[in-house]
Amino acid sequence: MCLSPQHAWRAALLLFTLVVYFQRIVSVNVVEKHSRSHYAQHGVRLPTRAFTGALHKAAIDISHLSCRKSLVVLCMANEEALQHTVPHFLESLSRVVVKGGRQEGQAFDGRVVLVAWSLDAMRACRDLQAKYKHHCVRDAQHTAATGSFSFHDTGFNSLGFAKVKYILNGLSAGHDVVFLDTDIVLLRDPVPYLLRHGADLFGSMEKCMVYNDSHAFNSPEFLALQKRPPAINIGVLYFKATAGVTRCVYNWAWEMRSEVETRPKLWDQDIYGKVMIKCTTRHQLRFQVLDPRLFQSACFPGCGCRFRNDEVIPARIGKFSRGSRKLPGGVCGPQHWSRWLLRHFPCSGVTKRKADLMKELITGYYGNKTANIIGAS
Ligand SMILES: *[C@@H]1O[C@H](CO)[C@@H](O)[C@H](O)[C@H]1NC(C)=O
Ligand SMILES: *[C@@H]1O[C@H](CO)[C@@H](O)[C@H](O)[C@H]1NC(C)=O
Repeated sequence: MCLSPQHAWRAALLLFTLVVYFQRIVSVNVVEKHSRSHYAQHGVRLPTRAFTGALHKAAIDISHLSCRKSLVVLCMANEEALQHTVPHFLESLSRVVVKGGRQEGQAFDGRVVLVAWSLDAMRACRDLQAKYKHHCVRDAQHTAATGSFSFHDTGFNSLGFAKVKYILNGLSAGHDVVFLDTDIVLLRDPVPYLLRHGADLFGSMEKCMVYNDSHAFNSPEFLALQKRPPAINIGVLYFKATAGVTRCVYNWAWEMRSEVETRPKLWDQDIYGKVMIKCTTRHQLRFQVLDPRLFQSACFPGCGCRFRNDEVIPARIGKFSRGSRKLPGGVCGPQHWSRWLLRHFPCSGVTKRKADLMKELITGYYGNKTANIIGAS
């Protein structure tokens, strides 16, 4: 058989379309299939006894700061994170103490519930208990458990479902919830900050921009500015244990579940932003953004996000801000991090590299000396 060039071209196009279509079907099934493990037919799966037990042991008393009783810090990790970033994360927590309430003076490592997925991850989590006091819980429901994750691969897209489930199950057990990624170095107790700004929900900033951390996005003072809310990074999140907040987290979980059927490349962070803006407005909840000068990110320029308080004015709100200038040799120093509550390390390369930068910050912070904390990208 002999095809004219035009026919050959059409045949190639058809074949290409079929391949793309087939690939789409295959990838839809993978993430969607993993996501299913976190849902029962009519809702998000209930917590295991081990999970609620660990929450109870880790909970921090907040009755001196709010009308609620307790707050829990939740995080999750696979084997790769447990090997590289988690030891530095826990080291940083172990050096920070709770500032008030019944756990006053106790270190933060004992106040954290770390969810491990695979048996190997659980073992690694337990091994770290020789040195730190964190609580390990296994979630065997999470089926996309092993291997390393890169941006937007199956593992990456699947872990969002696990995250939402833990947050929801923490809230329904009656605790305020702080969710932390494990590529974070904690430097000071963040709880007083979280409870003193009147926020029902807090997200961290994706970029270094000027915003007022006391403005709720649906408040008259923010709406009067006619600015868009900033892009939120969900590496650091706070949720107040109230009915309205729990309802919004439930919507987040359910929106993810519906979207994944047609959009395997869904990103929990995008859906969080979209759902929360709408849901908090409807329920008149205060959804606010963490001060990027205190909750630093390695995605911010230079030696961290900075702006002066007198720059938090209508003309500047919503604008990018410059970072602090690096010191000679590209390092940062105590003058930059003296007020920071924590630093998150996205935009820093592979997990191993993040771990090195985290270690540098801990050494610099406690040794009162400069440190190389800036990644390649
Ligand atoms: C942020 O807004 C609050 C409430 O409107 C206001 O009291 C505060 O001074 C503002 N913060 C800054 C840094 O301008
Ligand atoms: C840190 O080092 C600087 C000079 O290198 C010194 O002036 C400062 O007092 C030190 N701070 C502490 C808390 O030791």
